[in-house]
Amino acid sequence: MILAIETSCDDTCAAVVEDDGRRALSNVVHTQTEHARYGGVVPEVASRAHLERIDGVVEKALADAGMTLEEITAVAVTVRPGLIGALLVGLASAKSVAYARRLPLIPVNHLEGHVAAAYLEDPALEPPFVALVASGGHTALYSVGRDRSMSLLGETLDDAAGEALDKGARMLGLGFPGGPALSRAAEGGDPERYEFPVALKGKDDLDFSFSGLKTSLLYTLQRLGEERVEEELPHLAASYEAAVVEALSRKLLRAAEMTDSRSLVVAGGVAANARLRGRLRTECEKRGIGIVIPAPALCTDNAAMIGAAAPHSPKITFPGYLGLNARSI
Ligand code: KG4
Ligand code: ZN
Repeated sequence: MILAIETSCDDTCAAVVEDDGRRALSNVVHTQTEHARYGGVVPEVASRAHLERIDGVVEKALADAGMTLEEITAVAVTVRPGLIGALLVGLASAKSVAYARRLPLIPVNHLEGHVAAAYLEDPALEPPFVALVASGGHTALYSVGRDRSMSLLGETLDDAAGEALDKGARMLGLGFPGGPALSRAAEGGDPERYEFPVALKGKDDLDFSFSGLKTSLLYTLQRLGEERVEEELPHLAASYEAAVVEALSRKLLRAAEMTDSRSLVVAGGVAANARLRGRLRTECEKRGIGIVIPAPALCTDNAAMIGAAAPHSPKITFPGYLGLNARSI
């Protein structure tokens, strides 16, 4: 049994996952509410909150799985990329649990973790496939090989998709995180009422760009004025969300075409978006392409996905990991 820990941003997470990384026995996520009043994640506040919560979250993950530490055979932990202080809290906690029982430690890359959530969703899934990872910090397309190696096909040149949703939501006076807030505000809105730019550049270019979208929303809000913005809120939110969904969908489908891929994975917090999930499922069905999108709780940050990536990440035996460091990028 693998105990997995994830603290790269503002969620304090621990999970127990089976040794083959295909089934989670528990998945505990404590989402820090401290950041809401700032409209974004404050790194120092995140580190402190992780420190206060991590022990309780690990204990709950063991209890939910009906396990004691004696039954754990390895500890997996996110070591990059993320907020450095936040990562260090998780790493120190993982090291101390592993050290106490002389267990091996498995350092995991957060983005590989997001992709690995797909193996929990569909335990029969095998690479190769094309993966879209869209989160608050990253938006990229990867070709995932048989050995699970990830080669970059394209990425965002400016904002991440989640960041674009968060910033748009803030401009519209909605809550944080912006993705879910924007979706709620978009209910009943007409996604075609406003035409926000979908930056696609060349047909065969697999990079993303979301900064123009944000600027376009700003100009639209200025033009409409406060009162009209309030009346038009569902339409603005729906149109803005649609532009993000459109860019992600088109690029992923184009990547599938270009690499002649019959199997796709969508991961990261933005993959929890109902409109994106619906759109991609419909398009893939039309094309006869297989698609795995993890359940929303496995798309947003969690530790089960880190445990799922662990069997294919390098294992460090005791005491080799004691000097191991985290990295922000
Ligand atoms: O993967 P994640 O939980 O953390 C990072 O690694 O960044 O992703 C967080 C991002 C945020 O930008 C949030 O607004 C977005 O994912 N998000 C969503 C939804 N849930 C979270 N975006 C759209 N629809 C959602 N339901
Ligand atoms: Zn993430």
